[in-house]
Amino acid sequence: MTNLTKNFFYSLSQNKLLNESAKKWGFKFGADKFVAGTDLDSVTKTIKKLNRYGISGTVDNLGEFVSDQQEAMRATNNIIRLLNRINEENLDCHVSVKLTQLGLDIDEQFCIDNMRKIMEAASKFGIFVNIDMEDSRYEQTLRILQTLREEFENVGTVMQAYLYRAEEDLEQLKDVRIRLVKGAYKESEAVAYQSKAEIDRNYLKLAKKRLLGDAFTSIATHDHNIINELKAFIKENNISHDKFEFQMLYGFRTELQYNLAAEGYRFCTYIPFGTDWFGYYMRRLAERPQNINLIVKDVFYDSNNKLKKKPLVIAAEAATFLCLLRKRKNSGK
Ligand code: FDA
Repeated sequence: MTNLTKNFFYSLSQNKLLNESAKKWGFKFGADKFVAGTDLDSVTKTIKKLNRYGISGTVDNLGEFVSDQQEAMRATNNIIRLLNRINEENLDCHVSVKLTQLGLDIDEQFCIDNMRKIMEAASKFGIFVNIDMEDSRYEQTLRILQTLREEFENVGTVMQAYLYRAEEDLEQLKDVRIRLVKGAYKESEAVAYQSKAEIDRNYLKLAKKRLLGDAFTSIATHDHNIINELKAFIKENNISHDKFEFQMLYGFRTELQYNLAAEGYRFCTYIPFGTDWFGYYMRRLAERPQNINLIVKDVFYDSNNKLKKKPLVIAAEAATFLCLLRKRKNSGK
């Protein structure tokens, strides 16, 4: 995919107006293939199904870049409700949260207070909480993690292998449960590797280092080359299967997910749910061009592969979408 297309989807993912509008649209553009419903009941069903196949979950009640205090508090309460549900139904899963959903853009202390409420509930139930890593502007994330770790053990975060500083950060987090990913945001050359080859090389280097260390690691990638190389490394070094798990996103390479679990590896699926699906979904499109085919199919065709709408209606919808984008660009936000 060209950088232009990637940049287009990255900018859509951060577009506040579209993110807000999408909450009212319901799922569109094939998003339901990657998001497990809008409410707790739907996501509970998905977790139970995965659990039956020996797969655990990390559940993300979608939301990010919140700029309103009430909304950040609502998100906090929703995550606590999710924790209660996990406990009541004895589900095999933990939760993933984003600090910008909990008010990091409003005030760091406010965000920590919200996280503390979540951690108190999670600790009571013995549930792990993962802090997802957002773009590199949010360098406070590691500081907040360390603050929380003074009070709570059951909290960890994510390391992005595209960042030059990842190796140094991992050294500081030797004892912390970490999810290792390549990195999903648009980062500059000043802070991150840009080519796939360099990112993959660093990913493998960091994953191997972690696997030889003591703390638990989630190897989060859909890349079969990396997975195969790490499986061989794990075998050669006789690394216990209790020290790591593979992780993938809900709706991606589902067959490979089930196969890895059936082979006896610990497997955990990242399960997003909720009405705030737009930013998450646009990042997935930026990562993988093939997903764009799903949008085209979903917008234009019905389940019998017949054109859904008259071409004029499609043109009018496209024009409205472009107007929304232009309005946002002109407002300078
Ligand atoms: P990548 O996209 O590099 O693909 C490598 C190769 O794998 C492809 O060339 C293709 O051959 C194959 N492949 C990939 N996807 C496929 C598919 N769907 N079907 C068939 N083949 C496929 N990022 C972040 O910045 N912060 C975070 O907190 C998280 N959290 C997170 C959790 C989990 C569980 C996952 C899996 C990922 C994240 N990410 C993330 C996203 C991550 O940083 C990264 O952007 C994506 O995982 C894409 O990189 P991959 O390593 O999966 O493969």
